[in-house]
Amino acid sequence: MVEKSKPVISISGSTGFVGTNLGKFLSSQNISVINLSRKKQKSFKSKKTLVFSDIDDIPKIHCDALVHLIGTGAQTTSSDYESVNVRQTQKIINLCKKSKIKKIIYISGLGVSDNTTFGYFISKLKAERLIKESRLDYTILRASYIVGSDDPLSQNLTRQIKNGTILVPGSGSYRLQPISIHDVCRVILESVHNKNLSNKTVDLVGPKTISFANYVKKFARGKKAKIKKIPLEQAYFDALNNPENALYGIDDLNIMIGDFTSSHHKLEKLSGIKLKTPEIL
Ligand SMILES: NC(=O)c1ccc[n+]([C@@H]2O[C@H](COP(=O)([O-])OP(=O)(O)OC[C@H]3O[C@@H](n4cnc5c(N)ncnc54)[C@H](OP(=O)(O)O)[C@@H]3O)[C@@H](O)[C@H]2O)c1
Repeated sequence: MVEKSKPVISISGSTGFVGTNLGKFLSSQNISVINLSRKKQKSFKSKKTLVFSDIDDIPKIHCDALVHLIGTGAQTTSSDYESVNVRQTQKIINLCKKSKIKKIIYISGLGVSDNTTFGYFISKLKAERLIKESRLDYTILRASYIVGSDDPLSQNLTRQIKNGTILVPGSGSYRLQPISIHDVCRVILESVHNKNLSNKTVDLVGPKTISFANYVKKFARGKKAKIKKIPLEQAYFDALNNPENALYGIDDLNIMIGDFTSSHHKLEKLSGIKLKTPEIL
């Protein structure tokens, strides 16, 4: 049974990797969830879905916090960073104001900063600024790779294993700092009420860094697949000239080569959550 004292939480981008896992996690905690989605999703007792074609048309919703997960990490002519990462954020802020939702939680990217120079990060920075200027209570979480059984990186590597070879662009010595989806869900829930996380921008990273080459080795352990390094020039050439079949997109490569890492201590201290090293590491 859903307890009255528990928060009601809306999720935009609820069909995605983080949204699906967050919905399951919150339901397991008997927390009511309102999914905001362009597609129909299964409804359960504690989880309902509002389907929209334009966020501006969503009627007022009653909830304590909105977790904004709409985003894209690759551009096409019909779905670019400005229209998705920036404009949908403004629409979500308008919805929060119209509905008197006081709290917004947003997942940005690790490495986003005022000095950012590439398109994906600039759009995330613009979204962050809109949220900060909105006067809503916010928690902005700048995420490294969020990992679970069905995360985008694992899906990519699994596809490559099926084809027999995993490609590592360049030396593979650039690092990632994966955080488990379970810890991400706990941090998001904590952000709803914990005043330490109020009006804060915090890096959402796990306790350990690992080079991409070593991550791939661990991922491929026990599976029949070769690991092959390819020159960066070739990886970028494929991303630019054959985007539909390239294994890594332009901004995947930018983020990988960017070697963005951080300390997890601030997140642990503010949230009071002891972060676990993801199993694969
Ligand atoms: N996963 C990670 O490791 C990671 C790391 C750093 C930051 N992030 C950020 O965290 C957020 C969630 O990530 P994710 O991995 O769950 O992403 P995801 O699996 O790609 O899901 C993206 C969600 O955004 C929705 N969406 C995309 N374009 C939209 C549009 N124009 N209008 C409305 N909805 C739209 C999608 O809905 P449809 O199903 O309707 O297409 C989907 O629900 C994103 O903002 C991402 O940038 C994720």
